[in-house]
Amino acid sequence: MQPFRGCSVHAIMCGIVGYIGKRQAYPVLVKGLHRLEYRGYDSAGVALINPSGRLNVYKSQGKVSDLEDTAQNQDLTGCIGIAHTRWATHGEPGYKNAHPHLSESGRLAIVHNGIIENYAALREMLIGQGRTFKSDTDTEVVVQLIEHLQEQDHLSFPQSVQKALQMVHGSYAVAVLDKQQPDTIVAARKGSPLVVGVGDDELFLGSDASPIIEYTNRVIYLEDEDMVILHMPGQDCASGRAEQAVAQIMLMTIRGERKTPQIQRVSMDVSQLEKGGYDHFMLKEICEQPQSLRSCLQSVKQTLSGTDAERIFSLLQSANRVLITACGTSWHAGLVAKYAIEQMVRVSVDVDYASELRYRQPVINNGDIVIAISQSGETADTLAAIDMAKKQGARVLSICNVIGSSIPRASDEVIYTMVGPEIGVASTKAFTAQVTVLTMLALVWGHRRNTLDDEHYTYLMQELDSLPDKIAQVLDHKEAVRQMAQTLSFASSCLYIGRSYNYPVALEGALKLKEISYIHAEGYPAAEMKHGPIALISQEMPVVTVATSSDIYDKLVSNIQEIRARQGRVMAVVNEGDTEVERLADVFVEVPRVAECLSPIVNIVPLQLLSYYVACLKGCDVDQPRNLAKSVTVE
Ligand code: M6R
Repeated sequence: MQPFRGCSVHAIMCGIVGYIGKRQAYPVLVKGLHRLEYRGYDSAGVALINPSGRLNVYKSQGKVSDLEDTAQNQDLTGCIGIAHTRWATHGEPGYKNAHPHLSESGRLAIVHNGIIENYAALREMLIGQGRTFKSDTDTEVVVQLIEHLQEQDHLSFPQSVQKALQMVHGSYAVAVLDKQQPDTIVAARKGSPLVVGVGDDELFLGSDASPIIEYTNRVIYLEDEDMVILHMPGQDCASGRAEQAVAQIMLMTIRGERKTPQIQRVSMDVSQLEKGGYDHFMLKEICEQPQSLRSCLQSVKQTLSGTDAERIFSLLQSANRVLITACGTSWHAGLVAKYAIEQMVRVSVDVDYASELRYRQPVINNGDIVIAISQSGETADTLAAIDMAKKQGARVLSICNVIGSSIPRASDEVIYTMVGPEIGVASTKAFTAQVTVLTMLALVWGHRRNTLDDEHYTYLMQELDSLPDKIAQVLDHKEAVRQMAQTLSFASSCLYIGRSYNYPVALEGALKLKEISYIHAEGYPAAEMKHGPIALISQEMPVVTVATSSDIYDKLVSNIQEIRARQGRVMAVVNEGDTEVERLADVFVEVPRVAECLSPIVNIVPLQLLSYYVACLKGCDVDQPRNLAKSVTVE
C-alpha cells in the first residue's frame, strides 16, 4: 500500500453535517455548516435527495456564505442530506475538490473528514476496473470503492460502506447518501469525531454537537470504528409522508458487531453559539471572560474537592515528574503551569509541543504524569502524544474544554475548563480558563503535599476568586488598548517581552497578533533581548512589554531602559499606580494588581484586545483568519 503523497488534495480538518427527518434538510445543513465553519472554510458543499429521488449536489470554493450564493435559486428541496465545510492540506482548495463527492454513476454522495492513507493503491485498483475520477481527493476513492462493491459483490448500501471501510487505512468521519435509498444515511468514524443527534422523528449528524444542539440535546458520540445507519422507514419525501417517519438508529462496528447506542444529554446554551450583538466571536469571547472564568472556577473547585479529586490526586501523588504537552495557545498555558507547579508543588515539570514529543524519543518512565491541555480535545498531535506516553507507562490527566471529545476520552482523568464553546479561531477565554485550572491544581496539590503553607494557599485561593472582577476592570480600559492598536497596526513586525510568569504571556500575545492581523511578532523572555534580538530594535520595531509587578520587576525595568536607549518604542502593560514603566513607555494600559502567579490570567486580556483591534483596523477576517482552522485534527 502506498502512503499518501503530498500532490493530491485531501480533506483533513473539515466539518460534517447530516440530516434526515421531517424538516427540509437544506436550512438545517447550512446552519450546521456555519456552526462548524471554525473547522475550515476553504470550500463548502451540500448533497440533498429531493422528493423525486434526484440527488442534487451544490458546492462552492470559499465560505459557507459562498455556497449559499451558489445554491440560491436551485432546487433545495428534500428532507435528507449531508454537507461539508473543508480545510485543505495539500493542493489548491478549488471547486473540483470540494465535498460532497459523487460515485461514478452519480448514485452515491459522500462527505469526509480525515485522511485515507492507502488511497493511491485503491485508486489504481479502481482505475483498473474502469472507473474514472473527477477530483484529486482521497475521499472520492472511498465513494467509488463503495459503488464498486455494490456493483461487483451485489452488496446492500450499508454492507458496501462497511466493506469499503474495512479496506481503507487512515482516519475518517464519513456520511454517505444513496439516492436509491432516500430514507437512509450511513455514517462512520475512525480518528475523526462524529456525533449523532437523536430528535423526535429526526436524526442529525455533526462533527460536534454544535449543529445539533438547537434541535435536540440527546446525542450519541460515536467511537472509533463505529458505523451507524440512520434510517427513517416511514420517510418518503417523494410522497410527502415524512411526518409519519420513525427514526431508527442501528449502531455497529465496521466489522458488523452490533452495539447498543448510549444516548447522552449535552447541555449547551444555543446563545453561546451566536455572536450576541458583538461584531465578532473573538470580541465576544474576550468580553465574556469574567463570566466564563466564574463558571470555570466554580467547576474546578467542585472537581478538586469532590470524589473526582481523590482519583486525580492519587494519580498525581505518585508523580516523580510532570510532562505537559499541548499545541499553540494551550502550550503557552502549559508553560505558565510549569512555573506554578514547580513553585507550589516542587515537582519537576517539562513542557513539550505535542508535535515534537510524539516524534522524539523522550524519557518517559512509569510514574510520570502527562498533563495534556487542549481546548478542542481533538488536536491530532496532542492525541498522538497521549497515546505514545501511555504506551511508555505514563498516566494522563487532560485539561479540556469540549466535553466528550477525543482527548479526555483517551486520558485517565480530566478536568474540564467549562467555559462554553469557543468559536473564534484565536483562542482567548480558553487560555484564561486553562491557566486558572492549572494554577488551582498546583495550589491544591501543593497544599496537600505541604509544599504550600496554609497562609499562602488561602491568600492565593482568594486572589483566584477575585480574577473575574479584575478582568472586568481590564475590559473597562478598551479605549486605551484601541489607541495602542492604532500605532501597532502600521508595524510590519514587533516584539513581545515578559519575564517569569509573564514570559508565556509575551508568547501568547505575539501568537494572537500574528494569527489574526498577519503582523510578524515574536515573544521573548525580556532578558534574552541582549543575546540577539536587541539588534532588531529601531523606531520601526515596537516592543510590547508585560511589566506588571513581580519579584524581578526592577530587572525588567532595566531591560526596558536598554530598549529605550536604542530608540525602541515601548508599549506596556503595567499595574495601576505604576510610575517607573509608565514613564519609560510610549503608551501603556493599566491592569489591576494581582499575585504574580495569577497575573498571566489578567495580563493576557489587554493583549487579546490589542490583537483584535489591530486586526479590525487592518480589515482582517478576525474570526476566520486565512490558512487557519480552529481544530487542528491533522498532524
Ligand atoms: O484545541 P487545542 O487547544 O488543542 O488547540 C491548540 C492550538 O491549535 C490552538 O491553541 C491554536 O494555536 C489557536 N489558534 C491559538 O489562538
